[in-house]
Amino acid sequence: MTEIIKVNPSMPEKAKIRRAAQLLSQGKVVAFPTETVYGLGCNAFDEDAVEKVFKAKGRPSDNPLIVHIGSKRQLPILVSGISEKEKKLIDAFFPGPLTLIMNKTGIVPYATSGGLETVAIRMPKHKVAQAILKEAGIPIAAPSANISGRPSSTTAEHVISDFMGRVDAIVDGGKSRIGLESTVVDASTSEILRPGGITKEEIEKVIGRVEISTASTNKSPGMKYRHYAPSAKVILFTGRKKAIQEYADRLMKSKKVGVISIYHSFSADEARHAGNSLHEYARSIFALFRELEEKVDVILVEGVEEKGIGIAIMNRLRKAASEIV
Ligand code: TXA
Ligand code: MG
Repeated sequence: MTEIIKVNPSMPEKAKIRRAAQLLSQGKVVAFPTETVYGLGCNAFDEDAVEKVFKAKGRPSDNPLIVHIGSKRQLPILVSGISEKEKKLIDAFFPGPLTLIMNKTGIVPYATSGGLETVAIRMPKHKVAQAILKEAGIPIAAPSANISGRPSSTTAEHVISDFMGRVDAIVDGGKSRIGLESTVVDASTSEILRPGGITKEEIEKVIGRVEISTASTNKSPGMKYRHYAPSAKVILFTGRKKAIQEYADRLMKSKKVGVISIYHSFSADEARHAGNSLHEYARSIFALFRELEEKVDVILVEGVEEKGIGIAIMNRLRKAASEIV
C-alpha cells in the first residue's frame, strides 16, 4: 500500500508533514517534492531503508545517494571538514539546487555513499521538502524518484506511475519549479560532476574557475549509466528547421513521431513547442518525455545553446538520446 499525502506546496499542512516525517523516522520510503525534481527519500543512517530505495529504483548499488539536510547544523555529523571553497558554496547556494561532494564521517553508511569515502550533500529550497527535513530531524538520503534510467519525476503523477504499490508514501506537492536535477560539485578539484540547476557561471562567481568533468574522467558513479530516457526512442536534433521537418516527415511514413522544440515549430503526430525560455524548457522536458512516450514511437527533441542552464539541458538530452542528427 502506498499512502498518497497531498500537501499545499506554499503552506504545507503541519499534520501531513508530521506524517511524512514519522514514516521516514520509522525506516519507510517516502517520495517528496523538491525544487529540482522529486526525491525518493529514506533515513540516510538506516541501511535497510537505503537498501529498499535502491531496490525500488532498480539502481546499481555503486551509485551513491544524495543526503538531504534541513539545517546547516547537520553538516558536522555528516562531513569530516569544510574547506574554504565549500564554505563559500554553502553560504551562496544552501538551500538551493547544489550538491556538494565532501569527505564523509564514519556515521554515514557505505550503503548510502555507494562504498565511497565521500558523501553528496544538498539542502533543498522547497517548502515541503524543508518542512519534512526539519520535522524528521534526520538527514534524508534521496535519489531522484524515477525507476533507474527513466526520466526524473517533476510531478507526483510521475512518481505514482513509477512507484505506486512499491514505496510507503508519496507526498504530492505539485510541480517542481526547476525541472532538472541539482548541480553536483566537487570543490576539492573545482569540478562540476553533473551540470544542473545552478550554472557554471554562478559557481565561478563564488569560487573562481571550475571545469565540467567529461564522461571519461567523471568521478560521479551515476554519470556512466544511461539516463533520463523515456520508452520511446529519443533523437536529438540541432539542425535547420527545413531539414528536420523533412526528416520527421520521412519518419512519419512508418512511425508515430513526436517533436519537442523550443526555437522552431514543427508539424508531427504530436508536436510540443515547449516554452519561450531555457528555464521553461528545462521545467517541461522530463514531463514531455513521459507524456509523449505514451503516444509515439520516436521523439525528436531540439537541442539548445550550451550556455547557462542550457549546459544541463543538453547533458540530459544527450544521455536520453540514442541518436543525434
Ligand atoms: O536535484 C537532485 O539532485 C535530486 C533531488 C531529489 O535532490 N536528486 C538526484 O539524485 O538527482 P540522483 O541520485 O538521481 O543523482 C545523484 C548524483 C548521481 O549522479 C550520483 O552518482 C552522484 O550524484 N553522487 C552521489 N554521491 C556521490 C559521491 N560521493 N561522489 C560522486 N558523485 C556522487
Ligand atoms: Mg537520477
